[in-house]
Amino acid sequence: MIKYLGSKRTLVPLIKSVAGRLPVASACDLFAGTTRVGQALRSLGISVHSNDLATYSEVLGQAYIVADETLDRERIAAVLAELSALEGREGYFTEAFCCRARFFQPENGARIDAIRDAIDGYALSEVERGVVLTSLLEAADRVDSTTGLQMAYLKAWAPRSYNELSLRLPEPVAGPAGSVSRLDANVLAPQLDVDLVYIDPPYNQHSFFSNYHVWETLVRWDAPESYGVANKRVDCRERHSAYNSKRSAPAAFAELLATIRAPWVVVSVSNEGFHDAGEIAELLSGHGYVGRIDVDSKRYVGAQIGIYNPSGEKVGTVSRLRNREILLIAGPDRLLVEEVAGAGASAGPALSAR
Ligand SMILES: C[S@@+](CC[C@H](N)C(=O)[O-])C[C@H]1O[C@@H](n2cnc3c(N)ncnc32)[C@H](O)[C@@H]1O
Repeated sequence: MIKYLGSKRTLVPLIKSVAGRLPVASACDLFAGTTRVGQALRSLGISVHSNDLATYSEVLGQAYIVADETLDRERIAAVLAELSALEGREGYFTEAFCCRARFFQPENGARIDAIRDAIDGYALSEVERGVVLTSLLEAADRVDSTTGLQMAYLKAWAPRSYNELSLRLPEPVAGPAGSVSRLDANVLAPQLDVDLVYIDPPYNQHSFFSNYHVWETLVRWDAPESYGVANKRVDCRERHSAYNSKRSAPAAFAELLATIRAPWVVVSVSNEGFHDAGEIAELLSGHGYVGRIDVDSKRYVGAQIGIYNPSGEKVGTVSRLRNREILLIAGPDRLLVEEVAGAGASAGPALSAR
């Protein structure tokens, strides 16, 4: 799984235990990112629709939400073996992300160039292509030289960047085959016909499109014009999510919640973001009873390393290393909401229900 700011890695067991107690057969992970929440829901036997604006999230969704036992894994393994044997050949990726910026060592960049070019030459179904691209994304992520964000690279090469790029077959996820889309959440929400919607929107001004521009380019392979020390795609300047602006986010969130018809809604809120959990809980009361679980969690790994400027120089340390994640659960059955929130609270000393 790729390093991802705002990823619910540590919260997945809690979200899974919450969803596992609800009467749901289908769900939508509306802001899917890494797709790890959708994977957890799928492993419960729930039919999952994974959605995100990011192209790389769509590819991860093909590999982890859509691919099922009908995927010919031997064929994919053979394709990965052929791709792994290719000689490196410097191209756009090496020039942009290894020479002008230093996200990867040039030897790995040249192999990424050769492999990514070759992928488009294979006759692959959409799901197969998603699995192969996921393998390349994850391989690149294991040898990058960042703190987990692509706004900047480290001044001195990260030790892992010296490792050789190595393609692995993405692990299969058990559960029913789901579906994937790349739509604005507010456009998709009114069309959804599912039992549960999980909502984990961006919570501050930092755009995921900019933070993960290298993955966007690696998947699209469109050699965009770029700018700045991090060589960001020029369209980073135009592509904005309503959820990244303190002014527009509350209205976007309110509109989203008002259009969801699913009986069960689960929302993640961070105490470091734009949204106040109390206000969101009030909006959610339109969906029935609302339970709340507070989780004190370690901040994302980048914060523990420190703050770096676009040249990769450390310019500060972080003041707090802990934040609070809040899980809101809304649905029509009061007893069940209370039971689920109570069970979440007793899942560990870090949790408390209110
Ligand atoms: C906090 S992250 C979700 C992390 C995810 N739950 C995980 O565990 O990996 C928010 C996601 O929302 C996506 N996003 C931003 N604006 C969006 C929009 N308007 N519609 C759909 N997705 C959006 C971003 O690309 C990002 O992946």
